Amino acid sequence: MSDVSVPNDVTLMEKVVNLSKRRGFVFPSAEIYGGFRSTYDYGPIGVQLLRNVKDAWWRSMVQMRDDVVGLDAAILSPPAIWEASGHLKNFTDPLVDCRQCRERFREDQLEDVTICPGCGGKDTFTEARNFNLMFKTHAGPVESDAAVAYLRPETAQGMFINFSNVLQSSRKKPPFGIAQIGKSFRNEITPGNFVFRTREFEQMELEFFVPPEEALQWYEYWCATRYQWYIDLGIPESKLRMRPHDADELSHYSSGTSDVEFLFPWGWGELEGIANRGDYDLTQHATHSGEKLDYFDQATNSRYVPHVIEPAAGATRTMMAFLLAAYDEEEVRGETRTVLRLHPRLAPYKVAVLPLSKKDDLMPMAREVLALLQPHLMCDFDETQAIGRRYRRQDELGTPFCVTIDFDSPEDQSVTIRERDTMEQVRVPVAELLAHLLPRLV
Ligand code: GAP
Repeated sequence: MSDVSVPNDVTLMEKVVNLSKRRGFVFPSAEIYGGFRSTYDYGPIGVQLLRNVKDAWWRSMVQMRDDVVGLDAAILSPPAIWEASGHLKNFTDPLVDCRQCRERFREDQLEDVTICPGCGGKDTFTEARNFNLMFKTHAGPVESDAAVAYLRPETAQGMFINFSNVLQSSRKKPPFGIAQIGKSFRNEITPGNFVFRTREFEQMELEFFVPPEEALQWYEYWCATRYQWYIDLGIPESKLRMRPHDADELSHYSSGTSDVEFLFPWGWGELEGIANRGDYDLTQHATHSGEKLDYFDQATNSRYVPHVIEPAAGATRTMMAFLLAAYDEEEVRGETRTVLRLHPRLAPYKVAVLPLSKKDDLMPMAREVLALLQPHLMCDFDETQAIGRRYRRQDELGTPFCVTIDFDSPEDQSVTIRERDTMEQVRVPVAELLAHLLPRLV
């Protein structure tokens, strides 16, 4: 990436937000009704990018391993789960109201607890009160206490409450993990920074169950493995760091946590937390449910409660980090070219098929090339505008290759492949097109 030409960080954020809207990555939700409080919709390009981020995670965490299985648990959940997990009591932020301007803030995020950042008032805050971040609703037609349900604030509990089901049905034994990707909901007091902090977001979480004496070793293994995942997918090392939590930052369940952090335009921010959760979760659910949640090791003839190492990442937040890291601008023949240098595995479209003209003589062959590629690769097809503008559009979408069908193509049965980053072009026979592209897109 040509760092010299990257705009300074405040404009980088604006440019990525603008590009997201203009090209169909992310739209503010309910925009025609004036928008809805930091919620976002993922457009035709964004849904592909987000899906590719999740697929890359699933590939590395489930597909490429024989010690992890997947799960897709319910989002609606009974209070008993959150009582046992500690969320009903502990999943709170300290909230203060300004008596003067009536704005609300998280006390722990205020620079000065005596000054209101909204109106500048001094000593205008109310006493802090604990505000639970879980969304509460009612299941069924009766809004009674017996019908209370919560939207899950994390996917993790789905893995703990299914520990026995998975253990018995999959015949895995510790060390083994359960992975899940899905939506979570938190009534954040201060959402913001685009999709960095939203009330509805997606998580990618692994609960890895290990013999207690192996917990530290697996914690270190997962810290290193997860850090490398971001590097392998193109985040430069200068924008990524591992930050161990101080003792006073640790969650109620954790005996050790490290965050993978990305250098966002406003500073370092968490992409993922890797936590050593001990036996907290299984013990809590065993106590509250009355079910045994442990493992009998036939080799040693002993029973134990596995400890849990949890790498917990945000899919939507990570997608934003990939977008920011990939954004680049460079001068090409006196014009600014904007290009998303996304890893090919993440790129929303892998190939764009571009007939040089809309005329009848090129369209049948262009459609044939598209039909050849589509079963293997996500493709775009664009027959409008001048070819230079079509290339620029694909650069902004991060498409690694454009395949152009020109007036010689029907004659020589060949096409021109243009590579996104170098803009180099090569002529390739259609018969060799797939063999040329596929190895360059893994
Ligand atoms: N089970 C542990 C857990 O949920 P967390 O640190 O609260 O841990 C994990 O969440 C990840 O989920 C975070 O690192 C972040 O990437 C993402 N995340 C959390 N809250 C979020 C929010 N409000 N908006 C977007 N992503 C969020």
